[in-house]
Amino acid sequence: MNKIRLGVNIDHVATVRNARGESYPDPLRAAILAQKSGADSITIHLREDRRHIKDSDLKKIKKKLKIPLNLEMAPTKEMLNIAIKNKPNYVCIVPEKRKEITTEGGLNVKKNKKNLKRIINELKKRKIRVSLFVEPQVSDIRLSKILGANCVELHTGKFSNLFHKNNRINLSLMNLKKSAIYAKQLGLEVHAGHGLTYKSAHHVAKIKSISELNIGHFIISESLFVGMTKSIKRFRKIINK
Ligand code: PXP
Repeated sequence: MNKIRLGVNIDHVATVRNARGESYPDPLRAAILAQKSGADSITIHLREDRRHIKDSDLKKIKKKLKIPLNLEMAPTKEMLNIAIKNKPNYVCIVPEKRKEITTEGGLNVKKNKKNLKRIINELKKRKIRVSLFVEPQVSDIRLSKILGANCVELHTGKFSNLFHKNNRINLSLMNLKKSAIYAKQLGLEVHAGHGLTYKSAHHVAKIKSISELNIGHFIISESLFVGMTKSIKRFRKIINK
């Protein structure tokens, strides 16, 4: 059995809270419930515009959580300082554009290599596991290894979009698979995520070189109907089949 870890992204609990400027639903409560329901780690993305997770959420969650906390962040000085101060177990460096609805693509590793190398070094010095969110393509994966990242997280957005449109997924899935094998051969730990649902995660989880999936929007959406515990448990079953 391919035992894949499940990281649960709880950003959109904060989105609902912020829509009314209230104190509920509380992302900390979601993190603790996800932990209890079988999540292997909790992911939060502290965006530069703080549109969902806030600095206070990061502090509270880090203090109370028993499983690893994975902080997604843009490669900026501000975010590096926040990570150093709060010491999440993992950091996943992601690109950020103010006007995007979600993280629409992987990092431009080549363009940012100097900055990324410095940030990776600073985080690794503090024993924080560093992952780069990249497109499933050889050049970015190879460069991630050269820059010293521990892991790559392959962006599954394109695959998910094709999947949901009932388009041909074979090429895209094959590309994910080839990229995952290549990354693992280089000695990188391989993660994947973005836009995954029960059905699409089932295909991605069959790729043996992948050891972690990070899933958020669909879990929070399903939680409205079946609750977070059921949704997480169902994902666990699907990805460990
Ligand atoms: N992985 C990374 C690096 C992300 O930026 C996101 C979105 O925040 C996810 C996984 C989860 O994507 P989704 O919310 O679409 O499941």
